[in-house]
Amino acid sequence: MIRLQKVIAQSGLCSRRKAEILISEGQVKVNNEVITTLGYKVSNNDEIRVNNKILRRDRLEYYVLYKPKSIISSTSDDKGRDTVIDLIDSKVRLYPIGRLDYDTTGIIILTNDGEFANLMMHPRSKIEKTYLVYVDGLIGAEQIKKLEQGVLIEGRMTSKAKARIIEKDMKHDNTKLRITITEGRNHQVKKMINAIGLNVKKLHREVYGNVNLKGLIPGMYRELKKDEIEQLKLLALR
Ligand code: URA
Repeated sequence: MIRLQKVIAQSGLCSRRKAEILISEGQVKVNNEVITTLGYKVSNNDEIRVNNKILRRDRLEYYVLYKPKSIISSTSDDKGRDTVIDLIDSKVRLYPIGRLDYDTTGIIILTNDGEFANLMMHPRSKIEKTYLVYVDGLIGAEQIKKLEQGVLIEGRMTSKAKARIIEKDMKHDNTKLRITITEGRNHQVKKMINAIGLNVKKLHREVYGNVNLKGLIPGMYRELKKDEIEQLKLLALR
């Protein structure tokens, strides 16, 4: 048995808070009976209607995908390019948690649990995301310090980050570094590198919270285990 507002939020229809308002307002029915009690619990077999529309209650699925290059990380593409959704064999309506650029490779989590997705993407969530960054140019200690302390992108400083040089190629003027950030701003890593005066040549996300790509190759995916999902929730709420 599970609380009615949680089931509504998981379906992706709205937040748990909004679901509570809908219930209080008498807009939710369980087996054709209006329910206004917030603690009301339902089972998998109960039919839920919100504003008289049946709520889809698919099995909740959670995947980790190794995104290859040249794949869009949204649910559809107006140019008809392949999306991360096309790579997963599932009957439910999945959404990627956050975005990776078309040319970025690496870890991306997908789910049909709207409440979980909102929790992961909430600005307060401090889930660590680790990237391998291939930079055109040589990076010095001063620039690393800047990346760690915060740089100005689009009028706002980035939060504290971790940055470490892995390899410096003096012959070709390239630096490979590993950066861990807790935010998820648009093109954040590329913009952070731009902010120290350089450009990213290649970007790969290795780790998302407690989840990595071990055992996967580009294009491959697996379902997250229950304890991995619980751990991610804890990390987001820290
Ligand atoms: N930061 C970027 O700039 N691009 C990504 O795809 C992910 C993080």
